[in-house]
Amino acid sequence: MMTKPVILTGIRANNDLHLGNYAGAMLPMVDMAGKQAGDYQFNFFVPDLHSFTTPIDHDSLYGQTLATVRMYAAAGLPMDHGDVHVYRQSRVPAHSELTWILSCFTYFGEMSRMTQFKDKSQKTGGDNASVGLFAYPILMAADILLYGAEYVPVGDDQTQHLEFTRDIADRMNNQFGQLFTLPKPVKEQHQFFGTEQGLRIRNLIDPTRKMDKSDETGKGVIFLSDPPETARKKITGATTDSLGEIGYDYSRRPGISNLLDLLWLFGGDPEEFKGATQYGPLKQAVGEKVADFLADFQSRLEQTDDETIKNVLADSEAAADETARQRLHQVQQAVGLRDN
Ligand code: TRP
Repeated sequence: MMTKPVILTGIRANNDLHLGNYAGAMLPMVDMAGKQAGDYQFNFFVPDLHSFTTPIDHDSLYGQTLATVRMYAAAGLPMDHGDVHVYRQSRVPAHSELTWILSCFTYFGEMSRMTQFKDKSQKTGGDNASVGLFAYPILMAADILLYGAEYVPVGDDQTQHLEFTRDIADRMNNQFGQLFTLPKPVKEQHQFFGTEQGLRIRNLIDPTRKMDKSDETGKGVIFLSDPPETARKKITGATTDSLGEIGYDYSRRPGISNLLDLLWLFGGDPEEFKGATQYGPLKQAVGEKVADFLADFQSRLEQTDDETIKNVLADSEAAADETARQRLHQVQQAVGLRDN
């Protein structure tokens, strides 16, 4: 049997998904799975064991994990397609077991050089940062290598971890024979996925920065859980400029350009507004499109119940467990833990 190339990505559990996440990460993945399942296998998993490398509220982790999967279902991820798997990392024990084995072949110095660890450990208490935070790139390598994934869409903050994954896979292959498929190098990942992975939606109040949740007032960010009316008001309050004629130019007029992008994203036609001198009608049109989208999204979200989600997870987790267990078995043989 020919196996399909695997596209794999980890979706961190997150309760506050917003339009920035939707446009930049969720939609491209959902679109791609919709179009390419059949030619590729898609593994979308929630790295829930990664969730407490820094302190979190453990009481809400389980619920957040399910809620995140529901969001992807509402966004249209074809979860019932045979080539689309959605699973929780913690439900496939091989992730943890392979991590231990790989840890013993990983150099202390190589982990110490990870810039994300340096940044995050400073923020979370220096010497009191957890060993889990330090070792987490090894778990990430196991996430990828267990499934022989070749394509892993990574943001800039993850490129070093992907390079490490290639390094440790190569090291193990050199010592023990062909155990692992190496994920493609970062450059090829960018070629495969396109460097513009989705739209980078900006903060509505400060359109020079991207829309992310570090906005104390929440006014510049539209959350997927915002009532459509609230979203409409936020768009009315969006920062624009005083240049008069509507045009697309991110360097000089990020506010207007962002509104045009939002309009396009939700099915409107920016051409209708280019050259117009009034901003009100543009804001109104964007407000309507976004409000319609949210109403629709939220009703789909309501229709996905936890039972259905749990069933989808259980099926994928059984399939993932089988694949991962086989790969782990080979590794256990190679390192001398099994005789057959
Ligand atoms: N580290 C990734 C992040 O912080 C999430 C992640 C965990 C991941 N394991 C992965 C991504 C494996 C891709 C492949 O966003």
